[in-house]
Amino acid sequence: MIGHEQHDIIIAIDGPAASGKSTTARRVAKKLGYTYIDTGAMYRSVTLKAFEHDMLERLKHSPEDVRILLDPLSIEFQGDRVLLDGRDVTAGIRENRVSREVSFISSLKPVRDRLKTLQQQMGEKRGVVMDGRDIGTVIFPDAELKIFLVADAAERARRRYAELVQKNGNPAALPSLDELEREIVQRDRDDAERAHAPLRKHEDAIEVDTSSLTIDEQVELVYSLAMERISAGTSRA
Ligand code: CDP
Repeated sequence: MIGHEQHDIIIAIDGPAASGKSTTARRVAKKLGYTYIDTGAMYRSVTLKAFEHDMLERLKHSPEDVRILLDPLSIEFQGDRVLLDGRDVTAGIRENRVSREVSFISSLKPVRDRLKTLQQQMGEKRGVVMDGRDIGTVIFPDAELKIFLVADAAERARRRYAELVQKNGNPAALPSLDELEREIVQRDRDDAERAHAPLRKHEDAIEVDTSSLTIDEQVELVYSLAMERISAGTSRA
């Protein structure tokens, strides 16, 4: 490709909870030398901040008060670490209490508007893999590659359970597999039914069912689709 400008694209990976978006997105970004942006971590950060300010109950009655959490708000990624207002919250945002309330916080319009601006700034220079629920539909509808990852709810619960065991080490301290599946199904329903930027497949998105794929297989699949898009753009350049 000598003489051609590298054509950096935007890759949007959306889909329901625990469908393997972050693992796939992170690994594809690494292979391409792109930046990975986990937008779920951003919604989780605002949710953690609501807990820290003891504001969850208040927000259920007066959602407009969420502005207190947004002014000021800074969320940055440093490698695999997430910084909320300058503090490392990488572990805190994965707590189960955060998982249970994040759909509520992410349904609030002021939160979505603020994170939309941040996410669009983060992808301005292209060369990003961004995962979430509304990346292909709302944040970057012009993304050259849009993927919608799905998998059976039971399989997704098994994967999330294995991930929690690996992180916590102590299965006794974890929710049961059934409980996890119920929470995942409930969160998908809340995300798909909300008024603002609901979870939905863009008509141009390629649906990939990962139920019977290994992580390596799904990474290879998305990577090869990305390489097709990158070389199509480069040969046009
Ligand atoms: O990793 P997991 O699939 O469990 O979820 P996540 O990607 O960390 O996202 C957590 C929650 O944030 C989702 O259930 C949505 O409620 C919300 N979210 C969103 O509304 N829009 C996004 N672009 C990303 C996440």
